Amino acid sequence: MDLNEVRSEILRLKEAKGAVILAHNYQIPEVQDVADLVGDSFQLSRAAAGTDHRMIVFCGVKFMAESAKILSPDKKVLLPEPQAGCPMADMVTPEDLRRMKDEHPGVPVVCYVNTSAEVKGECHICCTSSNAPKVVRSLNSKEVIFAPDRNLARFVQRAVPEVRVIPWDGFCPTHERIDPDQVLSALAEHPSALFMAHPECQEEVVKMAHFVGSTSQMLDFAASSSTSEFIVGTEEGMLHGLKKRCPHKTFYTISPAPVCPNMKRTTLHSILRSLQEETHEIILPRDTIDRARASLERMLEVI
Ligand code: 13P
Ligand code: SF4
Repeated sequence: MDLNEVRSEILRLKEAKGAVILAHNYQIPEVQDVADLVGDSFQLSRAAAGTDHRMIVFCGVKFMAESAKILSPDKKVLLPEPQAGCPMADMVTPEDLRRMKDEHPGVPVVCYVNTSAEVKGECHICCTSSNAPKVVRSLNSKEVIFAPDRNLARFVQRAVPEVRVIPWDGFCPTHERIDPDQVLSALAEHPSALFMAHPECQEEVVKMAHFVGSTSQMLDFAASSSTSEFIVGTEEGMLHGLKKRCPHKTFYTISPAPVCPNMKRTTLHSILRSLQEETHEIILPRDTIDRARASLERMLEVI
């Protein structure tokens, strides 16, 4: 089957099976183009919580598909590539978090959505890169434990100085590799460009940015800005959505381009297989779902 045939068969099967295809902004262009919705972690969680479809094909990484299952437990949630994990999510376990909670009794735990379902069950509220400061403020607490991303924790600490943020020491290997010298070179090469950074980047890199936000917030910023050139401080999959949304603007990646190998696993062929065989289904114990759902729903209630 050539790619056009694969695409047509995906669309046919999707209708026949009552499925919706959700894709993260870092997915390869062909996958983004076949999806019903492309978005950041928050938008995808909200879509999963609100969909009427009986089946969700999640083109992203495992913690995202798990969040979809937690928010829509009666739907069939499929992750086309079962090996698509997130190394940052693997940097904290429920036991780790319980130990940290014991060291700071009574301090609420905020978990980045980039965590397993079991870890979500140990936290009070989830957040994403688009709402982390807002979530922390909503707790009205003097201190919070923040896991697992130390860079996002530092970003939140600067945004919400009145709260003491106790960080876990995790990080995203893809964003951590973007170093300040690479940003300086890009700015020197494109002096009219604005630099947009994801808060998973190192603190020094985030401090150099003209705009810091989630992947979809970057899309909105680029679209609404009067500037026409941007350096993109995040995974290179973003370039596709940025060029689509702003065809008359110019976008540059950092060099070398940051790539998340897990986000790149999903292909049109794996989506087709997933729809044909209804694999790989996310299965979670009911009590894990119930515990994790409370923290995700608290996040969705924060406006
Ligand atoms: P957002 O799309 O929510 O900004 O998150 C990026 C991310 O961590 C995906 O790995
Ligand atoms: Fe995880 Fe980083 Fe890949 Fe996002 S980009 S899935 S945080 S490794």
